[in-house]
Amino acid sequence: MTLSTDGPNTLLLARIEARLAELVPVVLAGQQGLEAAMRDSLLAPGKRLRPLIAAIVAQDLGGPLDAALDAGCAVEMVHAASLILDDLPCMDDAALRRGRPAIHRGHGEDVAVLASIAMLTEAFAVLSRIEGLAPERRNAAVGVLASAVGSLGLVGGQYQDLRGGRGPRSAQDIGDANGRKTGALFLSAVELGAIVAGATPGQRANLSAFAGELGLAFQLMDDLLDLTSDPAAIGKDVGRDAGKSTVVALVGVERTQRLVERHIGTARAHLETVFGASSRLDALVVRLAGLGRPPQPAALPPAIEQEGGRR
Ligand code: IPE
Ligand code: IPE
Ligand code: MG
Ligand code: MG
Ligand code: MG
Repeated sequence: MTLSTDGPNTLLLARIEARLAELVPVVLAGQQGLEAAMRDSLLAPGKRLRPLIAAIVAQDLGGPLDAALDAGCAVEMVHAASLILDDLPCMDDAALRRGRPAIHRGHGEDVAVLASIAMLTEAFAVLSRIEGLAPERRNAAVGVLASAVGSLGLVGGQYQDLRGGRGPRSAQDIGDANGRKTGALFLSAVELGAIVAGATPGQRANLSAFAGELGLAFQLMDDLLDLTSDPAAIGKDVGRDAGKSTVVALVGVERTQRLVERHIGTARAHLETVFGASSRLDALVVRLAGLGRPPQPAALPPAIEQEGGRR
């Protein structure tokens, strides 16, 4: 799944890439192997959704962009660290990530684990020193990201997914796991954007509800791609969910697509209450939802359509 970089967020994406490159943790002399693993993980071509969301939320609420970029990049550092761990042989045992060898494949499992811990830790340091942000807002930002990552957030969700996913689960239990392992970071992205901009409690509540729905839709879209796409298209392994109790396994592809549409619709309604119809964030969500759909017949190349027509 790729998000074209030539869209309305080109400049913002360039700022995010540049700041991420500056935020790769510094290493001791002679430890280029560790630095290379972190750079490969953090600077490999990802969609940068979480920093984009944090920056757009903050900007469109009238907040300072530099502070929002740092907050969003901190979330991206946590995300990249989580992907390193998720790909390890003891977790999803994946070989490909963002079109490149998974970090443990390219740099060894020992370095991969260290690189993940270093980036995870540095993310909090980034938040603690955001310039131009009042100390109480920095504290609040650190607390938000810690809750998103910890045993009630991403870590707890990964545990539910890895262990609970081996046996039958209810749709509600799967949704709970997805909300933690994936939704929690989307939630932290909007909350950090809101903190940077000094959003009202009402705006924060609607943005949080938006992020919750988006996170659920996003993981369902990702699970659909695991079944319907191929590594060349999404830059990572497919078929890793085989044997896992996912929503797709429970209700099938079509019903999962309808669930995605429902979550996206609810997410957009929450967004509309904050930014009105047709906001920048809404346009991003619409593009994202389009990417998750398996190819429709009309989108097939002409040669294939003609072949089908001759049969
Ligand atoms: C992949 O996230 C992991 C999930 C939460 C499903 P993304 O699809 O945002 O991955 P990148 O950052 O674009 O590589
Ligand atoms: C992972 O979900 C979410 C994380 C917290 C890393 P997946 O295991 O489905 O993500 P991909 O498909 O490997 O990106
Ligand atoms: Mg996983
Ligand atoms: Mg995985
Ligand atoms: Mg997946």
